[in-house]
Amino acid sequence: MSKQNRINFSSKLAVVAAAAGSAVGLGNIWRFPYELGQYGGAAFLFFYVLFVIVMGFPIMLSEFAIGRAGQSNAVGSFRKLDPKGKWWLIGVMGVITAFLIMGFYSVVSGWTLEYIYQAVTNQFSGKDSITLAANFSEFSSDSVRPVLWAVLVMVITAAIILLGVKDGIEKSTKFMMPLLFIIIIAMGIRSVTLPGGLEGLRFLFHPDFSKINSSVLLSAMGQAFFSLSLGMGCMITYGSYVNKKNKLSHTVTEVTILDSLVAVLAAVVIFPAAFAVGINPGQGPELVFITLPNVFSNLPGGQFWAILFFILLFVAALTSLISLMEVVVAFVTEQFKMKRVPVTISVTLAVLVFSVMSSLSFGAWKDVTIFGMTFFDLFDNITSKVFMPLGGLLITLFAGWVMPLNSLKQEVSNNGSLQVKWFGIYLIIIRYVAPLGILLVLLNQLGVSKWIGL
Ligand code: PHE
Repeated sequence: MSKQNRINFSSKLAVVAAAAGSAVGLGNIWRFPYELGQYGGAAFLFFYVLFVIVMGFPIMLSEFAIGRAGQSNAVGSFRKLDPKGKWWLIGVMGVITAFLIMGFYSVVSGWTLEYIYQAVTNQFSGKDSITLAANFSEFSSDSVRPVLWAVLVMVITAAIILLGVKDGIEKSTKFMMPLLFIIIIAMGIRSVTLPGGLEGLRFLFHPDFSKINSSVLLSAMGQAFFSLSLGMGCMITYGSYVNKKNKLSHTVTEVTILDSLVAVLAAVVIFPAAFAVGINPGQGPELVFITLPNVFSNLPGGQFWAILFFILLFVAALTSLISLMEVVVAFVTEQFKMKRVPVTISVTLAVLVFSVMSSLSFGAWKDVTIFGMTFFDLFDNITSKVFMPLGGLLITLFAGWVMPLNSLKQEVSNNGSLQVKWFGIYLIIIRYVAPLGILLVLLNQLGVSKWIGL
């Protein structure tokens, strides 16, 4: 008997668009390229891909399975599958994580709107890197302007969430994701065909394993979780909207490949262009907001490419914010039986408190630190390096050991109608390999490995 009265995404394409929309975001275009530049190019890529394969793929599949089996939000799904245990707390941690991510994510998303505006009004042209750097720090440290942009971003996100799963999430991502792919492919082609561009590729893909240490490993793992939107209930929530006929393993394969592809493409857009115009690609978060405007100001037709690039960044960010907000809104509306409109409005207002804290981290509150980090850095680091890997670890344990095995198998095999010869391997990975791997990377970073003589 199929008892599915929950709202469903209407097609396979819609599922991939929504899930890839969540996965592809600032993590791919803003963060991945500078991490690659900073941490040894292809060496970092190697570990990143390794983590995507042994952790990203199986965890995403498990999250989809938990959501579709539980037919509920990130907390409700755990409750449904294990009514007596305390595993639903993983979902609560996910909801908190979603809040913290939205806090800093909305700020960077707001910056992209400012930069679309600056590109449209042609403000990069004729400026040197020092001026562009000064402009960025002047803008980002302002107490008002970036906050207003963040507010606008959150209002747009809320408007889409208010339209609901089908008319909001599905329609918007089905339109925005193809747009995103067209833009990034066009830009990739433009970038590598610039005279001197290939030099950038060489820099990028030259493996420097001497840069790899325990904290770089943790960064690569954190980036894999962050980029694939894992360990915090996002794919559980979206999974609950996936039709019972959908082949989860196919969807997960497609989303994982698309996400990694966009990350690599983003680096392929940025580095060759920087080398072609003779700019040392900056290393760090400013890569996209200082180096690129500098590239655009030196590029023929630079204004056009600048507008296109920041639209790309904004679209990527928006489709991720939508998924983050849906985690919280689905949780509150379902668990507390409340209406979508008041919940969405309240969640938006609550997120904005975190946004203001993050935004002020660059100016008025730059000296306010916790564990030596500003609010922005704290929200960023604690989510991708602690909460998400921890959430992922617990999710694998839940799927592998706690949730009824036949229910897991039913989800990945669509009630036995698909051959899943790999089920045994998948089970070994979620029971042992992924959780131990995550634990090792976390402990290694804490320096524990030295004490226990590993
Ligand atoms: N995956 C998104 C990115 O790479 C960020 C994100 C994390 C979105 C968690 C939703 C949930 O930018």
